[in-house]
Amino acid sequence: MKAWEIQESFGISHLVQVERPDPTPGPYEVVVKMTAMSLNYRDLMMVTGRYNPRQPLPLVPLSDGVGEVISVGAEVTQVQPGDRVAGCFFEHWTCGKPSREALKSSQGGPADGMLMTHKIIHENGVVHVPAYLSDEEAATLPCAAVTAWNALFTEGNLRPGETVLCLGTGGVSVFAAQLALAVGARPIVTSSSDEKLTKLQALGISAGDCINYRNTPDWEESVLSLTDGVGVDHILEVGGAGTLEKSLACVRFGGNIYQIGILAGVTKDMSVIPILRNRVRVQGIYVGDRQSFDAMNAGIAQTKIQPVIDRVFDFEEAPEAFTHIEAAAHVGKICIRV
Ligand SMILES: NC(=O)c1ccc[n+]([C@@H]2O[C@H](COP(=O)([O-])OP(=O)(O)OC[C@H]3O[C@@H](n4cnc5c(N)ncnc54)[C@H](OP(=O)(O)O)[C@@H]3O)[C@@H](O)[C@H]2O)c1
Repeated sequence: MKAWEIQESFGISHLVQVERPDPTPGPYEVVVKMTAMSLNYRDLMMVTGRYNPRQPLPLVPLSDGVGEVISVGAEVTQVQPGDRVAGCFFEHWTCGKPSREALKSSQGGPADGMLMTHKIIHENGVVHVPAYLSDEEAATLPCAAVTAWNALFTEGNLRPGETVLCLGTGGVSVFAAQLALAVGARPIVTSSSDEKLTKLQALGISAGDCINYRNTPDWEESVLSLTDGVGVDHILEVGGAGTLEKSLACVRFGGNIYQIGILAGVTKDMSVIPILRNRVRVQGIYVGDRQSFDAMNAGIAQTKIQPVIDRVFDFEEAPEAFTHIEAAAHVGKICIRV
């Protein structure tokens, strides 16, 4: 079997393709012949050493992948050869509150990830994926879609008619906008680019609800005026420290901010007063468990959400896929096909 590893030191240029022995499953494990993967911003951070500079190497990157089960251990009951499955972001967080140990089972760091042709996974760490999706589409789900789902539904109890602010046009934000549309909520989307915003309008997002944050640095004012001064009900905060102050300025009284990402930085000197004065709920999100992945799959199979894929690379072109996500010119997800 083949795998891509980051060897010796971090950096996209240090990704090396290697041969590894074909895997044999343990009693509760399955071997998945991988057919497609997708990239997340986290994977880029992992490969470049910004996620965890102390991550032991070599490491096989990528948390998200889909494939066909080709062999199972003697005690496996939940899947069988021939099943099409996706790996869960956390191999050992099945449901409920996670233990610290379960959170260490995240794929693509610290555990070896999906960028390989054959992957051994515990049977608790895989889910069946909706039949209507292609392998590449299904491979977009484990991290970005589950994160957006957990923010909006597990934590947020999103209702029809509510407003959802999605920052930027990357994987998490585009899924959030699609999930909002699917339940009759109203997404408001920001982006650095009019061209990207035009692509999102094809999904059904109103042109009037698209804000270019480059041209409109005070985008929080635009969000307030789009909501008649009330503010939005839900914000998926993928920017982090660099955008949180603005998010706090345009969330409604008693609204929800899901703290998800750090695209715009991790630290900032800022006032916490708006959080308490406006009774804002700031909820940290860390992807989610297998149970929520299954629940989301049922939800998207019903609504037939079509994941937005910017570009698909071949397995042999994996480093180029990382260069593409680094350029941040994409809308939605970037995939790799084996
Ligand atoms: N906590 C969790 O469980 C979890 C799960 C998934 C992701 N994340 C985090 O969430 C963030 C997004 O991840 P992703 O995989 O969706 O990223 P992605 O697909 O790489 O999307 C990045 C996009 O975000 C926009 N962006 C970049 N800098 C921005 C800024 N300063 N302010 C607003 N938007 C900005 C850009 O789109 P435009 O050009 O359109 O602005 C960029 O193309 C990352 O920080 C990631 O680590 C966290």
